[in-house]
Parts: sequence; C-alpha cells; structure tokens
Amino acid sequence: MALVSAKDMLEKARAGKYAVGQFNINNLEWTKSILLTAQELNSPVILGVSEGAGKYMTGFKTVAAMVSAMIDELKITVPVALHLDHGTYEGCYKCIEAGFSSIMFDGSHFPIEENIAKTKELVEVCNKKGLSLEAEVGAIGGEEDGVVGKGECADPDECKKIADLGVTMLAAGIGNIHGKYPADWAGLSFETLAAVNEKVGEMPLVLHGGTGIPTDMIKKAISLGVAKINVNTECQLSFQEATRKYIEDGKDLVGKGFDPRKLLAPGCQAIRDTVKEKMEIFGSIGKA
Ligand code: 13P
Repeated sequence: MALVSAKDMLEKARAGKYAVGQFNINNLEWTKSILLTAQELNSPVILGVSEGAGKYMTGFKTVAAMVSAMIDELKITVPVALHLDHGTYEGCYKCIEAGFSSIMFDGSHFPIEENIAKTKELVEVCNKKGLSLEAEVGAIGGEEDGVVGKGECADPDECKKIADLGVTMLAAGIGNIHGKYPADWAGLSFETLAAVNEKVGEMPLVLHGGTGIPTDMIKKAISLGVAKINVNTECQLSFQEATRKYIEDGKDLVGKGFDPRKLLAPGCQAIRDTVKEKMEIFGSIGKA
C-alpha cells in the first residue's frame, strides 16, 4: 500500500474518539519496528520525521524512498502517513518534493499574521497534491532537535483563524512539552483545549509531547478533540534502556553478540513494546 495523507485516518479517529500515534523515526530500525507493530495491531500510524532526523538519514528523499520500499517489502497494509514534524517553510517544500504524504508547518514562532499567510499558501499547495497539512498555534515547550518552545497556551481565536484556512489538523499549545516532563509540571491545560475545541468545530487536534503524559490526561484530551498524539522521546528512552542492558550484561561479548543485528535487537523490541503500549492507550488498535 502506498503512503497516504493523514486526513482520512484522523477524521475517523476524531469521530470515533480515539487517537492515531505519530511516532518519530531516526533510522531503519526505528521505521521497521514501528511499521511491524502497526501492522501486527492493525492500527493506522504516522511516521514523524523532524528536520534534524531527516538530515541525519542523509535527506528527505532517502527517508521517503526507504519508507515506501519498506511498506512494500514488509507487505504493510495498514494506512501509513509519512509526516514532516515541525517543518520550516523551506523544509515543507523539500518534503513535498521528496514524496512525503503529510506536512507540518510550524509557524508558531512567527507573528500570527505571518503564520496565517504562510500556512494559507501551504494549504493550497498541499490540497493540490492531496497531502495533509498540520499547523501550529502557541509554541510547544521544551526542545526537539534544536527547535525550542516556551510552552505557551494557544489563543483559541488564533486557532480558529488558522483552522479556517482549511488545514487538516491543528496543534495547539496547551502546556505540553517535548521531552521528559519536569517534576513541577502543571499538567495539560484542559481549559485551553476545551476552548480551542469549541472554536474549531470538527478539526482533528494534535497533542505534541506525548512522552510521559499520564493515561487519564491522554483520555481526557481525546474526549476534547485530540485525534493525533506525537511520541518521540519515549521510544528513544526505551531503546536506550534495552541497549544499555544488553551491553551491561556483557551479551555483546558472547559469540557473535557484537553483530549489529543482535546488538540492536533488544532496542528494537523495546520500541515495539512502547509503540504497542501507546496504541493501546490511544485506542487505535484494530482501526486500520
Ligand atoms: P516527545 O518527544 O515529548 O514524545 O514529543 C514528540 C513530539 O511532540 C514530536 O513533535
């Protein structure tokens, strides 16, 4: 099955009161682990690629070619969207050209008028090509691949202005943060989320910073219109922990334990376990 736009899967999720996970990829192992888990659980899935990860993987064309070939060779039949995460204006055009099926333009650091103008232009380009487009209002806190946000809550009226441009999905800052949440985190602002949801009608909302958000908050966010949840750091942490254990247990020193296919296997299994756990919480299992 070819890559698909995220539009259909997110509209179904919003209507069915569950969320589709966006899991960020870093390399072949990450991609394979996430795709196999989605297929096993019959869940739609979104593969997120930050600009930094795209560069690491040698460029967006390599990523698009790898993901498309993998879907074919692994016989993946669940819907898969390949999505640019926190794209710059230039990055969006590069990914459109490279064959991504979904784009995020993060204009949250621009003055709202500039965010609107650039998002509007990208809505037209993406519509023509049948790609989904995510926009952002109100920066997400923390740091991801050099993109730093203060974590401000979005203004619901600004959200409406951006939603009215015809974007597919909207990320609104609601006190969420990329990476681990600090011990003194105040939690998600459901007041902001409810106000945004009220303004944007049936627009699927996106919750960034999915790592470490307690299950009850996730469920409440879904009940208030969140249909896409982004997870990145949690897969990195589970991969790290499993890989560390393999080496600390000395398994790389036994026989051919140094073979990268063996060395990376526990980390890959840990990613699969994390993705499964998230899909269970998000409610996307069996919804492909
Ligand atoms: P985490 O790394 O906190 O899971 O956030 C991921 C994300 O929001 C990607 O855009």
